[in-house]
Amino acid sequence: MKYGYFDDENREYVITNPKTPYPWINYLGNEDFFSLTSNTGGGYTFYKDAKFRRLTRYRYNNIPADNGGKYFYIKDGDTIWSPGWKPVKTELDHYECRHGMSYTKYKGSKNRVEAEVLQFIPLGFWGEIQKVRLKNSSSDRKKIKLFSFIEWCLWNAEDDMTNFQRNFSTGEVEVKDSVIYHKTEFKERRNHYAFYSVNSSITGYDTDRETFVGLYNGLDSPVVVSEGKSNNSIAHGWSPIASHYLEIELKPGEEKELIFMLGYVEVEKDNKWESKSVINKQPAQEMISSFDTAEKVNRAFENLKAYWDNLLGKMSIQSADPRLDRMVNIWNQYQCMVTFNMSRSASFFESGIGRGMGFRDSNQDLIGFVHQIPERARERIYDIASTQFEDGSCYHQYQPLTKKGNAAIGGNFNDDPLWLILSTTAYIKETGDFSLLDEMVPFDNDAARAKSHFEHLKASFYHVVNNLGPHKLPLIGRADWNDCLNLNCFSEDPNESFQTTENQKGGTAESLMIAGLFVVYGKEYIKLCKRVGKEKEAEEAQVHVYDMIEAVKKHGWDGDWYLRAYDFFGNKVGSSENEEGKIFIESQGWCTMAEIGKEDGMVEKSLNAVKEHLDCEYGIVLNYPAFTKYYIEYGEISTYPAGYKENGGVFCHNNPWIMIGETILGRGDRAYEYYTKIAPSFLEELSELHKVEPYVYCQMIAGKEAHKPGEAKNSWLSGTASWNFYAITQHILGISPEYDGLAINPCIPSAWDGFKMKRVFRDVTYNIHVKNPDHISKGIKQILVNGKEINSNIVPILEKGKEHSVEVIMG
Ligand code: BGC
Repeated sequence: MKYGYFDDENREYVITNPKTPYPWINYLGNEDFFSLTSNTGGGYTFYKDAKFRRLTRYRYNNIPADNGGKYFYIKDGDTIWSPGWKPVKTELDHYECRHGMSYTKYKGSKNRVEAEVLQFIPLGFWGEIQKVRLKNSSSDRKKIKLFSFIEWCLWNAEDDMTNFQRNFSTGEVEVKDSVIYHKTEFKERRNHYAFYSVNSSITGYDTDRETFVGLYNGLDSPVVVSEGKSNNSIAHGWSPIASHYLEIELKPGEEKELIFMLGYVEVEKDNKWESKSVINKQPAQEMISSFDTAEKVNRAFENLKAYWDNLLGKMSIQSADPRLDRMVNIWNQYQCMVTFNMSRSASFFESGIGRGMGFRDSNQDLIGFVHQIPERARERIYDIASTQFEDGSCYHQYQPLTKKGNAAIGGNFNDDPLWLILSTTAYIKETGDFSLLDEMVPFDNDAARAKSHFEHLKASFYHVVNNLGPHKLPLIGRADWNDCLNLNCFSEDPNESFQTTENQKGGTAESLMIAGLFVVYGKEYIKLCKRVGKEKEAEEAQVHVYDMIEAVKKHGWDGDWYLRAYDFFGNKVGSSENEEGKIFIESQGWCTMAEIGKEDGMVEKSLNAVKEHLDCEYGIVLNYPAFTKYYIEYGEISTYPAGYKENGGVFCHNNPWIMIGETILGRGDRAYEYYTKIAPSFLEELSELHKVEPYVYCQMIAGKEAHKPGEAKNSWLSGTASWNFYAITQHILGISPEYDGLAINPCIPSAWDGFKMKRVFRDVTYNIHVKNPDHISKGIKQILVNGKEINSNIVPILEKGKEHSVEVIMG
């Protein structure tokens, strides 16, 4: 069953039934100011950091789901309704929600009144616009009452949910004309306030939540709305809100537009006040006047569209399947921008208070984003590397506002450092900008301890070399990529976190996943060293990579697949000898991508074992059989019920590792089959079971051993976005940036006749047409560049600013 449809031309997903199986959301904002918004108007807003600068409140895991947001109420005679259906939930005569690129437009109509709300954040602006269009389609004059509603968050989202001793007394607002200002804590340490405005005179307002809603009412039936009259309440403590009340008259056929703005302002310390206790409103006024007419708003909206035209114009494909095209050309790229912006901080599944920017997560997110805005990727690499230590280890996360490592979470996740080599080489290959390597980058955010970025990469590489276990395989530390495989943790205390609790000393647990990762990015490091003339470094590194390959062959092979790890005691993890968890996906992915033992058939055997044991209807599960009891020596992984999350779930982030492995063997049919199993647009018909949005990837789909296989969770913020984009574009379609040009090496389904890709690379536009006359999966007979044959599969960097044709004949 579907709940809407793709409108590819407008790059929108159109939801036609508000009762989606879970709130289907969108992200607004591209740089500093962000909102999340659901298909029924729920969601929240923050400036830069979802924990420290939260503008509006949101109650996660609420009943009913997704209750709270930016709501509008219309009172038309005795009928009360909301244009996004919620919160009032009066049946609408027509409903539609269009989630587009950084904007959402929803529309409802009731009794021949139509209300449309367009929400977006203009580029470079610290405010959200809501353009409300009201139309009377009846033949009678209509007098309607419109109420807006938002609830302020007292800035620190964590404190806001817990510190009621203080919070119930601190709330402060000011109201002037049609603007409601939120100034809690402004008089002391804050240099910022927020405001909610409308470009029209108002009949009334409310700022005290209980006055507006009524203590025993819900947001579906606020007292003020039922009574049809606001109270002009001023909040003193308790819970400040902002609600405007407007009386609007519409002649038959008449249409009116209103501009609401939710803005954020920072002021200089000595310029905070207009007079005693009255805040300096000038910066807010300037923001308001920059968008006080529909024309100005429309222009900003057009600019936003042009911005996305440009970003998405850098890479687009034409294949025989619109489901693939819409993933590659629109939604997957869009999601990559969102994961780049948010890492794993704020969604409907992430409360934005516990996790800032993840070291491993943000490095990986970059591979799906770097072609869009390379300058931002460069800055991000710098920020991430600044949270590293001299020995290569690093903070696992940092806060976006302060850019400081998060001490509460700490480090010792031993895969973390290696991902910096991935992001850096991806950036340089995309841009050709080797100067990043010479940039002085702090260690532990201390400028006095800065060294060149190259030294950071070297530290990353040697962090593995310097932390090997008894089998000369990498020590796992707290965990590798799989946060839940906690081999040194031994937790018996339900009050401690598996990931941050003190690890048992003397453990020598080793990870085959890090081993594969090290070989892949070790080779990249060597290639980079050679490229920048560091021959000696390259030679030294080569020895370590070679040793790792040997260690995996000797101690990491189980006969038909790669082991996953050695536990604290030196026992095998992910072996046919184990009762449960005999085989894991991560080491199959990384050791095959590293091509360890390919010549001996290990890669092929491993991938065949994946097909046999891990593949299912909904994707490739993480491990099999799933754990059915708590293994204290494995940690959190064995706490999840079988088939969920890291215990036998289809953890979508790692499926592309197998797809890439398959392309190494040239098995394009299988690689693509895996791709289509988890690509959201291919699952649209399954929406009822799948539950989450059919336009973005989710973190996890319940696996074959789950109670409900195929049901998905945690959409949006997942490394799945960038890895799938990387797998499909660079390995299946096979067009990947290299230091000296664009490498062409497709591995596609044999049934395909070919495909086209437009790729803007280093200011050169390549119009690539891959033809597959013999219906094979891999292999190239001929490449013609502007009609002339070249004898390499790397298309060089051609004349900038021009379009060039590249014809690829497979064979
Ligand atoms: C985390 C990743 C981790 C993955 C697997 C995600 O929730 O953000 O860092 O690699 O889970 O455990």
